[in-house]
Amino acid sequence: MTDSAFAHDRIALATETDAFERDIIEGLSRRQKTIPSRYFYDDAGSELFEKITELSEYYPTRVETSILLRHAAEITDGIADDGILVELGSGSSSKTEILLDAAPCLAAYVAIDVSPGALAEAALRIRTRYPTLEVRPVHSDFMQSIPVPHDLARHRKLGFFPGSTIGNFEHDQAVKFLNDLRHAFSNGDRLIIGTDMIKDEDVLLRAYDDSAGVTAAFNLNLLARINQTYGRTFDLDTFRHRAVFNRDRARIEMHLVSTEAQVIRFRGHIFRFDRGETIHTESSHKYTLESFRELARRAGWHPRSTWTDDKALFSVHELVIG
Ligand SMILES: C[S@@+](CC[C@H](N)C(=O)[O-])C[C@H]1O[C@@H](n2cnc3c(N)ncnc32)[C@H](O)[C@@H]1O
Repeated sequence: MTDSAFAHDRIALATETDAFERDIIEGLSRRQKTIPSRYFYDDAGSELFEKITELSEYYPTRVETSILLRHAAEITDGIADDGILVELGSGSSSKTEILLDAAPCLAAYVAIDVSPGALAEAALRIRTRYPTLEVRPVHSDFMQSIPVPHDLARHRKLGFFPGSTIGNFEHDQAVKFLNDLRHAFSNGDRLIIGTDMIKDEDVLLRAYDDSAGVTAAFNLNLLARINQTYGRTFDLDTFRHRAVFNRDRARIEMHLVSTEAQVIRFRGHIFRFDRGETIHTESSHKYTLESFRELARRAGWHPRSTWTDDKALFSVHELVIG
């Protein structure tokens, strides 16, 4: 890495640390305390997320992968010879390989993620496995901007947003994000997006509160990240993981429950917790096929194909512009 690249990384880190601090203070000041879920994904969080995807209870990864494998030819059909794949929240880029195998003609792969460790590791693996493919990892918060590299902007784009990450957005945020993505893309470009479906509450709860406690560790890692970044703030032994299904809003919510009344001091601010009070750390919205299509239409996309599994656990949608 060059000196200027190091300087650029230091600036990015400082900006990120400032934004994290602001979001913690703003979130813990609310009546329902909250911290945005994107902060789960430091290196330790990304590794824990990978462990979650291997759990038997966590059906989304298994089922979405099987849908992508079954329909890879249809999904990649019609990709132009110099088309590019742009993945949002690429993480380990595991599902990406299904599309890359089905579309060897792709000119470049742009991977956008907020987790630098996951991004670097995935880029190295993809470059090794696909030596002729141009691989562009982009460390960015896609809620702020969707930075498709300028020199690739004229290429036909296939967007890829798997993992039901769209489910982490409130509906209005999801519409705004899809609308921003549409503006970063052009007429004729497509998006392949995975959404988790409304289903039996027990199946959902097991997926977000597994018996081995991996999801609990993932949730608590958020407090560990705060302690690491700003010095000891939270006693992790006084918080525990809770997953609940909010039926009215068709979403799983993850919370961190304070097991005792306590006072948290953070950067000159004081936050009081009652015993049992929670920090809402993630929502994971579930959709029917039609409710997601309707949301996509609100953002100006045209739903085309939809693929699902035989138990209707998960769905993959193809959306088109124009
Ligand atoms: C639920 S995981 C999905 C990972 C992978 N795409 C999959 O399907 O298994 C969410 C991914 O999105 C990334 N992410 C979350 N919020 C983000 C944001 N605001 N900007 C960029 N990446 C984000 C995380 O780092 C993580 O890799």
